[in-house]
Amino acid sequence: MAVMNTKTLIKLCDKCYWNPLTQTLSEENQILVLTSSMTKLLEILIDHHDKPVSSVDIFFHVWDDYEKEFNPKNVRNLISNLRKRIPCLSINNYYGGRYVLKKYRDNIPDITDYVLEILDQAKNGITISDPNLPDNPVIFVNEAFSELFGYTPEEVIGRNCRFLHGEDRDQIALKEIQSAISEKRDITATLRNYSKSGELIFNELTISPIFDKKTEKLKYYLGVQKNVTAIQKLIQQIKRML
Ligand SMILES: Cc1cc2nc3c(=O)[nH]c(=O)nc-3n(C[C@H](O)[C@H](O)[C@H](O)COP(=O)(O)O)c2cc1C
Repeated sequence: MAVMNTKTLIKLCDKCYWNPLTQTLSEENQILVLTSSMTKLLEILIDHHDKPVSSVDIFFHVWDDYEKEFNPKNVRNLISNLRKRIPCLSINNYYGGRYVLKKYRDNIPDITDYVLEILDQAKNGITISDPNLPDNPVIFVNEAFSELFGYTPEEVIGRNCRFLHGEDRDQIALKEIQSAISEKRDITATLRNYSKSGELIFNELTISPIFDKKTEKLKYYLGVQKNVTAIQKLIQQIKRML
C-alpha cells in the first residue's frame, strides 16, 4: 500500500489531495484517474488558487499544441466535466470567463443561523439587490445602511437604490455604475447621495455581481456603502485653498 506523505499534499476538498510532485490527485488514498486535459486544468487552477485565471490562459495551458483558435466553450466544457468528476471541488466562475479554485478551508463553522446578525454588525452599509426582478430592487439592507441614510429597511426594500442620489444625476460615477451593471462586473465609485433628512453623503459604493456557481447565472448584486463624506469635504477644502 502506498504511504501518503501528507506534507507534500494539497487538500482540495474533504476527500481529495493533490500531489504537486507527481501531479496526481488522490481520493481516500486511491489515485483518481483524470484525463490529461483535466489534469492540466487542475494544475493551472491550483497554481493560481484563490486568484482568477482567464479562459484564454486555461485554453493555452491545456491545449498547448492546439492548432485551432481560442474557444471559451472548450474551457467551459472542461470545467463542467471536472466539476462532475470531483463534485466537492469549489471552482467559482466570474463573468467574462475567469475561474477561481477556492482553496479548501478546514473547519469552517456553520454560520448559516448568524449570517443576518453578522451582516448587521458590519460597519459599512450592505445592500443586496435582485436583478431578476423588474428594475433590480433592493431585497436586503443591513443596520449600518439604515443608520447612514436614515431609512428603515421597509422604506428601502422593493425600490431601486437610485433614489439615494435623487435628482443629482449629473455624476460621472453614475455612468460607470450603469456600464458595470450592464456588463455584470464589479465597480467601485464615489457618489453624491442624500439621507432621508436631505443631508449630503459621499458614498464610496462597491457593487459586485453574485453568480450561481453551477448555472453561471447572475443571481444578485451585493452593494457596500462606505461613508467617505469627511475625507471628500477635506479634499474640497484643500482644492479651494489652492
Ligand atoms: C446592490 C446595489 C446597490 C446600490 N447602491 C447604491 C447607493 O447606495 N447609492 C446610489 O446612488 N446608487 C446605488 N446603486 C446604483 C443604482 O441602483 C443604479 O444602478 C444607478 O443609479 C444606475 O442606474 P440608472 O441609470 O438606471 O439609475 C446601487 C445598485 C446596486 C445594484
